[in-house]
Formats: sequence, structure tokens, C-alpha cells
Amino acid sequence: MDRRDALQTMAGALAGMVAAGTTAASKAAAQSTNATAPSFTTTHIPDTELPVNVLEYEPAAQKRISQMAYDYVAGGAGDEITLRANRSSFDRIRLMPRALVDVSKLDTKLKLLGQDFDFPIILAPTAYHKLVHPQGELATAAGAAAAGVTYTVSTFATTSIEKIAASTKGRLWFQLYVQPDRDFTRDLIQKAEGLGCKALVITVDTPVLGVRDREKRSRFNLPPGIERENLVGLGSPAARAHSPTESAIFSAALDPTLTWDVVNWIQSIAKVPVILKGIINPADARRAVEQGAHAILVSNHGARNLDTSPATIEALPHVIEAVDGKIPVLMDGGVRRGTDIVKALAMGASAVLIGRPYLWALGLQGADGVQRVVNMLRTELAAAMALCGTTNIKEIDKKVLWPY
Ligand code: FNR
Ligand code: LAC
Repeated sequence: MDRRDALQTMAGALAGMVAAGTTAASKAAAQSTNATAPSFTTTHIPDTELPVNVLEYEPAAQKRISQMAYDYVAGGAGDEITLRANRSSFDRIRLMPRALVDVSKLDTKLKLLGQDFDFPIILAPTAYHKLVHPQGELATAAGAAAAGVTYTVSTFATTSIEKIAASTKGRLWFQLYVQPDRDFTRDLIQKAEGLGCKALVITVDTPVLGVRDREKRSRFNLPPGIERENLVGLGSPAARAHSPTESAIFSAALDPTLTWDVVNWIQSIAKVPVILKGIINPADARRAVEQGAHAILVSNHGARNLDTSPATIEALPHVIEAVDGKIPVLMDGGVRRGTDIVKALAMGASAVLIGRPYLWALGLQGADGVQRVVNMLRTELAAAMALCGTTNIKEIDKKVLWPY
């Protein structure tokens, strides 16, 4: 293949990633949807009217989902200072272009926690997918499977982990909100492992809920028929619902007593790698390493918990320094462009997770949207890598940051 052919092949492959199989995902979701679930046909949106980037998905989805669902997904804590910072801090970082490097072959593959990934993007755990799409987590799972992306299922999913696992192709992680009932918590972990979840993501940043004005304003609650299906076995109606009153920060399904001892106990029973999600403080990162966590996820919970805490991309270098290469560090919060992914990797992250982007896409287009948003980011990542003169993930380091 001569050089021009090689470039054309690459361009074709990139375009194909975005266009390919957009209906396969929705068909798979429809097939795997429980017969009793609300029926839903994704209105066909002509290609010319689809968002051309991840950021455009939000306003497009807003027109199709309820105001309450929109407020829930979009919102951050307090004055949303951290929410804005999660984006603006990415925007402030400048990338260093590199000219005249042969980038005809781009390799985005990586190995993480003994698992193979085709690209460094993972779906972050997010609650209540049925609020934005009637097929809920099954559509997410189908879209994720079609895109070849790992999907981290939330404890607060509105579809049981059994049903979700049945409709994915094995790229599944499970996010754990430790329950005050420890026996139930152990059973949940074992169930997730038995169903093939390949990592356990323990969320450690949410002993209480953040102060979220948008949720208060829209009187956020789970409508009848939508519940936290993984917590049904707890028997407590409060644990299955989500209807915070004006002053509620405590939740029946979050454990405010959670400490390192409990994490230790979970590590002792888990058979899959344990990732601690929601580490920002470098002292916590050091403790996580000492205690034998397999990985850390630098996250401020999508800026939904402690307002005025740092943007995750600001915190990342400090956590990287504290961890000193001993375990992999992942990050999430505000990732909306392929260039954001390059920046996070350049600063030491092994991979990034996305939350709101795939929820907006789910709301607009169901499974097809989830697949498309992942493919968009993949394509943008490949373009940014090439323009920075890097041809594989390992080459992305501080040299692609200006000034390094
Ligand atoms: C979340 N997040 C979250 N995290 C978690 O550990 N368990 C959960 O159930 C949820 N639920 C949830 C719902 C919604 C609507 C959002 C937006 C976020 C946090 C999530 O995993 C992730 O940290 C952020 O979403 C990442 O930031 P971006 O990509 O949304 O900016
Ligand atoms: C949230 C919780 C459920 O951020 O994680 O809404």
C-alpha cells in the first residue's frame, strides 16, 4: 500500500467508526428488552440532523427527556463551580502539535488490570437510565457491546444486573455503593462476579449526597415502576427509591459509616480487581496504594458532591505523584473531546471514563446513541494522537503538553 492509500484507509476507518452499525445496537437492545418493559421505538433521526460532537448531544437530548431527568443528569453540586471547572480546566491545557511523523498506523489498544481494551475509554457508572430512555440500562448495554466499550453498571441501575449481564458481551464492571447491610453487600458483590463483571468499582466519595439545587427545584424522584432493581432484595422501600426531601443528604442506600476497614473487608472477599472511585486527595491515594487497591479512579463524581473541590484534571497530577506508578490511575469528569483524553493520558491517567455524554446520547438515540458517542470520542482521540505525533497509547506523555 502506498502512502496515499494508507492515509485513505485510515480516514475511511475513522469515518467508519462513527457511522458503522448504528442500527445493530438498537436492534440488539430491542431484542433483549424484557417483554414487560415499556415499548419504545427510537424515532429515526436523519444522519444530517445528528449531533456532530459530544457536546451537541446535551441540547439535543434535552428536547426529548423530561425536565426532571434533564436536571438530574446535568446538575452539579452547589453553585456548580466544580462542574464548570471540570470543563474549563481541560480547555486551559494546551497540546503540543508534532509535525512530520508517520502516523499512518495508529494503535489505541492498552492493557489494564490484566484486561485488554481497544481504546482507553470506559463508561462510568451512572444511576437510573430508565429516566432518560425506556429501555434503560439494556439499551446502554447493547450500545456498549456494539462499540466494544466496557460498561460499569451502577448499584443504582434501574435494571437488574442479571438482565444487563445477559445483554452484554462480557465487557462489564460493577460499581458498588456499599450497603449498610453487609451480608447483602457481600451477596451483591458475589452476584456481580458470578455474572462476569471483571472489576469492582467501590465508590468512596459519597457517604452523603451533595447539595443539588436543580434536583430540589424539579422535586427529583423515581417515577412509579422505576426502581433500583439491584436493591430490591434489601426489602426496604426507601433503599429502592430516590426521593430526597428538601434537607435530605443521607440516603437509605448509602452508608455514611463507610471507612477504610470496610474497603479492606471488601478487598478480602473480592475475586476481581478492586478500583476505588472518587479519590481526589493525594493522602487518600497513598492510603489506597498501601492498602492494596488495584487501581484508583480520580473523580469528583461529575462535580455532584463537594462543590469547589478541584477539577479532576487539576487533581490528577497530584494523585499521580502520590501513587508513584505503583497502581494504575483512571480519571473521569468533563471528558468531552478526544483532545481531553490525550491530555488526561499525557498527565498519567491510564484511561478515562465518561458519564453524561453517553446519558445524553442514550436519551436522544437509545443504544445507537451510546455506540455513536463512544465512536466519536475514539475517532477524535485517534486524530489528536496523530496530530501530536503519537502512534500508540504508550507514546502519549508530557511531551504532548505545552509547555512540557
Ligand atoms: C453519576 N455518577 C455516579 N457515580 C457512581 O459511582 N454511581 C452512580 O450511581 C452514579 N450516578 C450518576 C448519575 C449521573 C446522572 C451522573 C451525571 C453521574 C458519577 C459518574 O460515575 C462519573 O463520575 C461522572 O459522571 C463523570 O463526569 P462526567 O463525564 O459526567 O462529566
Ligand atoms: C448521583 C448518585 C446516585 O450522582 O451517584 O446521582
